[in-house]
Amino acid sequence: MEENTKLLREKLAELADLRASSAVLEWDQLVNMPEGAAVDRGEQIATIEKIQHIKSTSDELGQLLDDLTECTKGLDPDSDDTRLVRVAKRNFDKQAKVPTEYVTEIARESTVAQSVWEKAKDASNFAMFQPNLERLVELRRQYADFFKPWDHVYDPLLDDFEPGMKTSEVQEIFNTIRPKQVELIKAISEKEKVDRSFLYLDFPEKKQWEFGEEVITKFGYDWKHGRQDKSAHPFTTSFGINDVRITTRVKESYLPTAMFGTFHECGHALYEMGIAQNLNRSPLADGASMAVHESQSRMWENLIGRSKQFWKHFYPRLQELFSSQLGNVSLEKFYRGINAVEPSFIRVEADEATYNLHIMLRLELEIALMEGSMAVKDAPDAWNQKCKEYLGIIPSDDAEGILQDVHWSFGGFGYFPTYALGNLVSAQLWEKMSEEIKDIEEKIETAKFDAILAWLRESVHVHGAKYEPQELVQKVTGSKITPEPYIKYLNSKFGEIYGL
Ligand code: CO
Repeated sequence: MEENTKLLREKLAELADLRASSAVLEWDQLVNMPEGAAVDRGEQIATIEKIQHIKSTSDELGQLLDDLTECTKGLDPDSDDTRLVRVAKRNFDKQAKVPTEYVTEIARESTVAQSVWEKAKDASNFAMFQPNLERLVELRRQYADFFKPWDHVYDPLLDDFEPGMKTSEVQEIFNTIRPKQVELIKAISEKEKVDRSFLYLDFPEKKQWEFGEEVITKFGYDWKHGRQDKSAHPFTTSFGINDVRITTRVKESYLPTAMFGTFHECGHALYEMGIAQNLNRSPLADGASMAVHESQSRMWENLIGRSKQFWKHFYPRLQELFSSQLGNVSLEKFYRGINAVEPSFIRVEADEATYNLHIMLRLELEIALMEGSMAVKDAPDAWNQKCKEYLGIIPSDDAEGILQDVHWSFGGFGYFPTYALGNLVSAQLWEKMSEEIKDIEEKIETAKFDAILAWLRESVHVHGAKYEPQELVQKVTGSKITPEPYIKYLNSKFGEIYGL
């Protein structure tokens, strides 16, 4: 057994190294690479991925995992070794169920679909993209079939992002939260609009950058094991636990973009940096799921970064950096401005109160497409109708409606719900943390984040991917993912801001 465990760790470490190597290439591509290198870079990444695929589906690895699964049966189910075998076996079995021809086919179809989607989006013409989307829907349904039997056709897609989670669980959660969020937005829309015009002045990039780095240094971002660069879309990437990098983008004409983007990515990075060292170079050196990952980024971005306590400390510094723009804007006015609620069409620009509704709309459409209860051609109308129902507004064209997100163009069905679940988990963890760290507000007000980070480390980060998301949330908070803490958080925060 010991011999076999050692062998498994070696094999998995090699796979982790390959994954990290292609992540370096991808990071470089998005941050540094000269345009003319794109084709060669594509080949390089494909070569590494091919080697990775061969190694990760080898009979030898399969046999080793079978043997070890037997051996670990009587052992502590929560030990690193038992969990490592379980997660590796799970990944192996999933990969083994998907034929190589399918992998090649979806890769080809999604490459084509992405470029068609870009053109269709520019032209704001869904009909251009429709045949590609039809093909991708068909392919994803085929994918689900590889994992039969299931309770719902959407389960295998969701499982890729939220291990162990079922469609019915997500639907139940969303059904609870939807009417409450719709009601909140309606109440807010009857109140006077909040002024946020001062966020749209000219804010020089260098100072924005400086401010972001000052804040995340206080959060606990470790510059010895990370760095921040610029990219078109912000992201976090890790080449193992000891090198976790973030990127951001800066808009000089809109202050919140870089600031909250930096806080958000830092939240993802703190998670990766906090995973226990002994899980490094293994499949456990990862987040528990996309939702749990997003709970960390949203917590630093929103629950901390958009709180009044936070700005009590940091606003004077921001005013110092931007004295001509913000010198005459009071803390209260600034706080309300960065938290203004306004139904809008574009998900990535949505505020905290409306964001989840954008997600629910997408989830409902994805489920209907996968079930076959809605044809692709009818999707734009369904989109607009739901938009009206949930947000009270109707997109004027496809670009600001159904064509806005990249996800469907690479067949990424199952991904969207993780964003909303992440919001819920962030509030649920926060509630628990606030019980255990008594003076949490005072700590934020004095920019002392070490107790918060330590709590997150111990409860969430160190475990990496040892536990499935529902298991982890249950372990930390005493219950599975539940929407109540988030609803409570929204109602109290926006109730105060809008006087509801
Ligand atoms: Co994120």
